Amino acid sequence: MNAVVAEVTRRGRVSFAEFMDLALYHPTAGYYTRHRTGGGPAGRSGDFLTAPTASPIFGRTLAELVRQLAVSLGEPLTFVELGAGEGVLLSGLLEHLGEARREVLCRTLAVEVGEWARKRIAKRCKGVEVASRLLETSWPAGPVVLFASELYDALSVHRVTVQGLERGHALVEYFVEPDGKGGLRWTMGEPSRPEVLSYLREHGLTLEDGQVAEIRPQARAIHAEHLRWCGADAVAFVVDYGHISRKLYDPRARRHGSLVGYRAHTLVEDVLADPGQVDITAHVNFDDLQNAASDAGWDRGEMRPLGWFLTLHGALSFLPPGVACGEPLSPQEWGELAAAKRLLLPSGMGSDLKVLAQGKGRAWQAYLRLATPPPSEA
Ligand SMILES: C[S@@+](CC[C@H](N)C(=O)[O-])C[C@H]1O[C@@H](n2cnc3c(N)ncnc32)[C@H](O)[C@@H]1O
Repeated sequence: MNAVVAEVTRRGRVSFAEFMDLALYHPTAGYYTRHRTGGGPAGRSGDFLTAPTASPIFGRTLAELVRQLAVSLGEPLTFVELGAGEGVLLSGLLEHLGEARREVLCRTLAVEVGEWARKRIAKRCKGVEVASRLLETSWPAGPVVLFASELYDALSVHRVTVQGLERGHALVEYFVEPDGKGGLRWTMGEPSRPEVLSYLREHGLTLEDGQVAEIRPQARAIHAEHLRWCGADAVAFVVDYGHISRKLYDPRARRHGSLVGYRAHTLVEDVLADPGQVDITAHVNFDDLQNAASDAGWDRGEMRPLGWFLTLHGALSFLPPGVACGEPLSPQEWGELAAAKRLLLPSGMGSDLKVLAQGKGRAWQAYLRLATPPPSEA
């Protein structure tokens, strides 16, 4: 029997959040934690594309931004990637920095829960410290750049709906139980924890009768912990799918929530089927990350579509040179251009993925100067 199904059967019934935790992070069978010998989850040969795995312009643009920050601050930085996967972003960033790495970075840290992935990062990215938890690493000295791409949308969510609103407000939670045939099925029940009930109230949200929503009450505290680790002088860039709560929980836009599975670049609607073999994800409520910044004494930050962020920070200079002078492109250059367009154009990833930039201290001031377009472009 599938180890996740066996664990749910042993427990009898679990909240969807517990199920998602098992499906993604079960020590031996979880989608991100099970041992892998072939390709990993992100990338063309995997189940989904992320910004860093879609095009190398992402890593190059970030490298240039980090370099400019180090120059502006007059000292090298600590660069931390949370949820680093197999190290695609880090290896691209370090390759782009090349010899300049010594002046730009005094410490490079990759944090990743998957042991198989940590081994790949260590092999791929020389001179990078690799850890399974940020809080187990030593505190940084000097300015920090914290980066996370699609980390928070891979954290478990509680799934809720409202039933029988006419008979009084009834928030109901989705649970998962064995179906008696070796698989799993949905079942409904009262909210599993007080924070499931309080979350919507605290965000000033009322769901409509029958509206389904995913909530991640733990995200705020987790993000605040990450920010506090950075100290007094830092910038964080969080790349993720999501919206602020007003948009995320708008019944007209997302009446059925945002929970989906991915396998081989195809949408999987039944997220309970084949746990451990399917990526499961739900949009991030960016209010949680902004509230976390307030909790940690950081600036709440600014959220921009990915294409806007990359263009502002010079991504167009990394397009194949022939694009600017109208020269014919080689087949490889056409491929590079097509991949870059995915990230830059205001359709798909370029607008669906958001970049939340937050910060504190001198590093944040330095970033704000870099992020302000000159008057001619504004
Ligand atoms: C959707 S993948 C994104 C990988 C990579 N950042 C990218 O954009 O290609 C999410 C990654 O976050 C990792 N992860 C999830 N929770 C984590 C945590 N608490 N600490 C560190 N890594 C985590 C997962 O193992 C997985 O590799």
